[in-house]
Amino acid sequence: MTLALKPLHPLFVAEASGVDLAQPLGADAVRAIEAAMDRFAVLVFRDQPLDQDQQIAFARRFGTLDIGLRRATKGPHRFKYDELIDISNVAADGAIAARDSRRVASMVANQLWHSDSSFQSPSARYSMLSAVVLPSWGGETEYADLRAAYDALPERLKSDLAGLETEHYALHSRIMLGTTDWTEEEKNVLPPVRWPLVRTHPGSGRKLLFVGVHAREILGWTLPEGRLMLSDLLEHATQRAFVYRHDWRVGDLVMWDNRCTLHRGRRYDFAERRELRRTTTLDTPRTSEGSSSAAASAVA
Ligand code: OGA
Ligand code: MN
Repeated sequence: MTLALKPLHPLFVAEASGVDLAQPLGADAVRAIEAAMDRFAVLVFRDQPLDQDQQIAFARRFGTLDIGLRRATKGPHRFKYDELIDISNVAADGAIAARDSRRVASMVANQLWHSDSSFQSPSARYSMLSAVVLPSWGGETEYADLRAAYDALPERLKSDLAGLETEHYALHSRIMLGTTDWTEEEKNVLPPVRWPLVRTHPGSGRKLLFVGVHAREILGWTLPEGRLMLSDLLEHATQRAFVYRHDWRVGDLVMWDNRCTLHRGRRYDFAERRELRRTTTLDTPRTSEGSSSAAASAVA
């Protein structure tokens, strides 16, 4: 197995080939993909259509799987696995979801810059999104490089931000968009969590600016000053020089590191079908699970 990597952007993102994701991955392939993720943060695999079992098996090689917001918004879904996240505008019965449904509202929320599950602890490490049905226009996904964003901050701002913590809340983006039909129980299932605003990416040792739409305040700052700073930093981090736009083809699988990138979907016609399937690993310690136990089970 040789993982070939072709850079798709001056700063991050590579197209990866030479490995069949539908087959059980050996420990060497897992290690090669992890090393490439540490360097590029986003990997694009072309022509790798996966069925549900194959996508779950592939994802599990990289750690324990996340179910994200499904914890709060329980209810029926179309898949064999709770850990397969339905990134589509299609209802549980297979029909295109109503414009005023929660499903479409959540696809709108995905069009705001975010890091998956940054509203919970552990948050997400890798997400893997596989394209099944695409609309006739739009629906691209954009990725922003938070390590490059940190590097480009003025020194004054770097020292002002050092040591600060932020609060991330699951429903902040939904509430900002105007959806109000959340029960007390739903609001409380995922209580806010705190993350340092500047973090160090474990795999590369590089610092990064951990912002995104789930961040709603800077601890110890007034709400207005904190929100203004978070909004300025998000604008900085998502300037075009730091952004890669992915034009989907059916059978693409894009894998990204939520610890050092943001992403957002782009507009499409919600009257057309767009169906992608996501698996996401939790950012839990490597010693007890993830690639080490995955490697052990490959031998077994
Ligand atoms: C996701 C997501 C954006 C898109 O899958 O986590 O935010 O373009 N997707 O569908
Ligand atoms: Mn997402």
